[in-house]
Amino acid sequence: MSTDLRSLARLATGIENRAPAALAALRALPAGRAKIVGITGPPGAGKSTLVDALAAALRKQQKTVAILAVDPSSRMTGGAILGDRIRMQQHHADPGIFIRSMATRGNAGGLARATSDMARLMSASGRDYVLIETVGVGQDEIEVARVAQVTVVVLVPGMGDDIQAIKSGIMEIATIFAINKSDHPGAAKLEQELRAEGFHSPIVRTIATEAQGIPELLEHIDSLAQASPLQTEPAPPAGLDHIAIAVPNLDAAIAFYQSLGLVHTGTESVPAEKVRVAMLPPLELLEPAAPDSPISNFLGKRGAGLHHIALRVPDLNAAVERLRARGVRMLNEPRAGAGGHIYVFLHPASTGGVLLELIQEHQ
Ligand code: CO
Repeated sequence: MSTDLRSLARLATGIENRAPAALAALRALPAGRAKIVGITGPPGAGKSTLVDALAAALRKQQKTVAILAVDPSSRMTGGAILGDRIRMQQHHADPGIFIRSMATRGNAGGLARATSDMARLMSASGRDYVLIETVGVGQDEIEVARVAQVTVVVLVPGMGDDIQAIKSGIMEIATIFAINKSDHPGAAKLEQELRAEGFHSPIVRTIATEAQGIPELLEHIDSLAQASPLQTEPAPPAGLDHIAIAVPNLDAAIAFYQSLGLVHTGTESVPAEKVRVAMLPPLELLEPAAPDSPISNFLGKRGAGLHHIALRVPDLNAAVERLRARGVRMLNEPRAGAGGHIYVFLHPASTGGVLLELIQEHQ
């Protein structure tokens, strides 16, 4: 998909608002390969600083990062929670870091669902890491933290007696403990207490303000994230991928369909077809990019209108072989088009009069 930050932000807003078109667009996207990391722990443990230190270390490795700052206690809508503004300034010039604040819309389960969808969107957009930071240690945070493959529970020395108090739930979901501010007295004692309480997850000592312990924390995150691949929704069965409409003016058509609530997920040029393509799932809008474009011919002969229908198939090569055996005419050999999809077009003479595109389903 397009990693253009503005369309990504727009789609993110649609998902946060649970807009059906945005959710449909999300379902159409590939799963991506991001590592989803939850960062949670009691207020004052330095979670934001730790998240920023992790993001900075990842950027040094040329990895791209999305930070989802989730605040179940806040019902602010799109406001600057969790020091968002400060961070935006800090990372302002870096498109490799995408930051999003999320507050409760309705119930906590809804927030966890929205967070999960947002993480999937960030993964689909090609981010290498999604860091989900929650404010506190309540039941809602636990719901949100469950979205992650790896959950880092951040603690600080001097809170030994509080382990009991914060234990309910959040400690049990820790795949890694980070003892932050570990230069403060009591770091060793806290570590002992965690072991004494029967927790066996790795314990990493960090001083986030000085980036100490961050490489070690990242190593643990990487190895544990590999051990538990992201739970993705099952791929939809083979079926409709998109309906394509030929238009003389892409911008006008995009504006029209956006006014109906469809989400514009990206525009790209396909030089091989001399066409500009805008995706607004489930629609694909086609505009000729040259006078000798097939779309120019189509517009000249038949005028604007339905151009083709695209179906997803689980195994495109096998489908092509079967169709060839039946004498079906292909207009091209399978090849990569917009968004890297492998596709083939079938002549309308074989399909009941409709130009039919077959697309290899995401692997
Ligand atoms: Co198409």
